[in-house]
Amino acid sequence: MRHPSLIPLSHDHHQGLALALRCRKQALGQIKPVGREGFEERAKEVKDFFSKNLERHFRAEEEVLFPIINSCASESQQMVEDLIKEHQQIRRQVAGLGEKKALSKTLFDLGDLLERHIRREERELFPIFERRVDVAQAQRAKKEIEKILQAC
Ligand SMILES: [Fe+2]
Ligand SMILES: [Fe+2]
Repeated sequence: MRHPSLIPLSHDHHQGLALALRCRKQALGQIKPVGREGFEERAKEVKDFFSKNLERHFRAEEEVLFPIINSCASESQQMVEDLIKEHQQIRRQVAGLGEKKALSKTLFDLGDLLERHIRREERELFPIFERRVDVAQAQRAKKEIEKILQAC
């Protein structure tokens, strides 16, 4: 079971994985409407999810979760650096959805990266938090994460 401090982030991950799959399927023509209309529909869905969830989700991880992991488990620094780079790449891909060109490739790549990123956080990063972070730190993290996720 997920640590209570991480549940809101895991909830976003669940939605993110479903969206990542839709992006890849859309790019492959497996979801109707196929072609340009479908690509644009999916691109809008991604942009909405990014502005309503993912932007704040990334901030909560970068400002709260990653620094805690770095302080409690210094051997995880490389993974945290990789995850930060992936956030930047995902941000660039979302911005790239504004361009009409190569929309299906951007959707496919974004779906692929988003899924790998989320799975790494769920399978590797979150278990480190659950094993290494003490109760007081976890409590503080919970409050700070919730504050960022609820910000307008
Ligand atoms: Fe992340
Ligand atoms: Fe995440």
